[in-house]
Amino acid sequence: RIKDVRGRQVWDSRGWPTVEVEVTLDTGAVGRGIAPAGASRGAHEAVELRDGGALLGGKGVRTALAGIERDIAPALVGLPVSDQARIDRTLIDLDGTPNRSRLGGNAVVATSMAALNAAAADAGLPLWRHLAEGRPVRLPLPQIQIFGGGAHAGRRIDIQDLMVIATGAGSFGQALEMTAEVYHSAGRIMAGRGLLQGVADEGGWWPAFDTNEEALDTLVRAIEGAGLVPGEDVCIALDIAASEFGRNGRYRLGLEGVEYDSDGLCAVLLDWLDRYPIVSIEDPLAEDDEAGLVAFTRAAGTRVQIVGDDYLVTDARRVEAAAAKGACNAVLLKPNQAGTITETQDALAAAKAAGFNTIVSARSGETEDAIIVHLSTGWNAGQLKVGSFARSERMAKWNEAIRVESAGLPFFGRSALQRPTRST
Ligand code: PGA
Ligand code: ZN
Repeated sequence: RIKDVRGRQVWDSRGWPTVEVEVTLDTGAVGRGIAPAGASRGAHEAVELRDGGALLGGKGVRTALAGIERDIAPALVGLPVSDQARIDRTLIDLDGTPNRSRLGGNAVVATSMAALNAAAADAGLPLWRHLAEGRPVRLPLPQIQIFGGGAHAGRRIDIQDLMVIATGAGSFGQALEMTAEVYHSAGRIMAGRGLLQGVADEGGWWPAFDTNEEALDTLVRAIEGAGLVPGEDVCIALDIAASEFGRNGRYRLGLEGVEYDSDGLCAVLLDWLDRYPIVSIEDPLAEDDEAGLVAFTRAAGTRVQIVGDDYLVTDARRVEAAAAKGACNAVLLKPNQAGTITETQDALAAAKAAGFNTIVSARSGETEDAIIVHLSTGWNAGQLKVGSFARSERMAKWNEAIRVESAGLPFFGRSALQRPTRST
């Protein structure tokens, strides 16, 4: 049973405050969780509670911590930690808003994560094993960023994430080795052109490019420069994050200085799918452009994975609705978008029922917390998106996955990109 719930302010990878929660059980077992923070957020996600005002850019979390002490701790003390659904239901009811705005999505998700970790600690199991409950599970196929962009790089280029997927890798460890080669190859190319300007928010190289296509061309060259075959050993995954530059069916690509309608942007993306070895594309159209997402999925959904992030916001109902309309064929799962672990798991179940692929994902603001590695493995989600291959808030996840792999787990590999058949 839960004996104590405590919150504290810790710091994220961008140097802003965030919420850590520690749950202690009467057995002495302890679990912690730290809320991550997005920068290119969906309009429908759970919202963070920030203090506002002049201090720390208004991003203080004192109000969120006060809510943990005043409301959350008294409500959770005494509950059985093994009943995650009841803990999360209690948090949702206590908050009482549709988007966690009273207690804060940051306080709620950190508490939900801490309780889950405490339950695993109490069972004496690594979290992935606790979640797998004896079912066979495999390590996820990783999507790893090489160049950052969009809201994570001062909007230097429009595309937010230029990532690779090591489709030729036979193990998780090998996928990381191949990605490391590509990452450093890309760094050498940028240095050789005199364009090495550090890294973006998630550790990808700074996108010092004049056009979006120059970034794509450089990524292909980086794969070749690593001695790997684009389209065979290593493929490309993009997060367009189109909600960041598009609204009401109008899209302004700042780099090219052109404005497209929904069909026009679709045409640009379809042309890229023809010319580059792209196997996955996230938020190709804006979150409010459902007709565009349906049209794009109709045009490209049998060829590539089309991932809803801002559009689906880890919400089971939205996933079901999208599947019914034929928008997207995969969902990004971010626990802090949903608000709790149980709601994240509901979104995963809805995705699997709809025949959608699932990708557990980090946020652009992260910490050493590596829970997403355990969620993606223990839930057998198939794929994992963490950001790039630099900065320790990212490497903490990759290194944790290596520890999990040491338990002898098999690897999804490229089979994770094949869509499951609909079960409903
Ligand atoms: P965010 O972006 O964490 O800044 O919202 C990540 C993503 O769009 O996948
Ligand atoms: Zn995204």
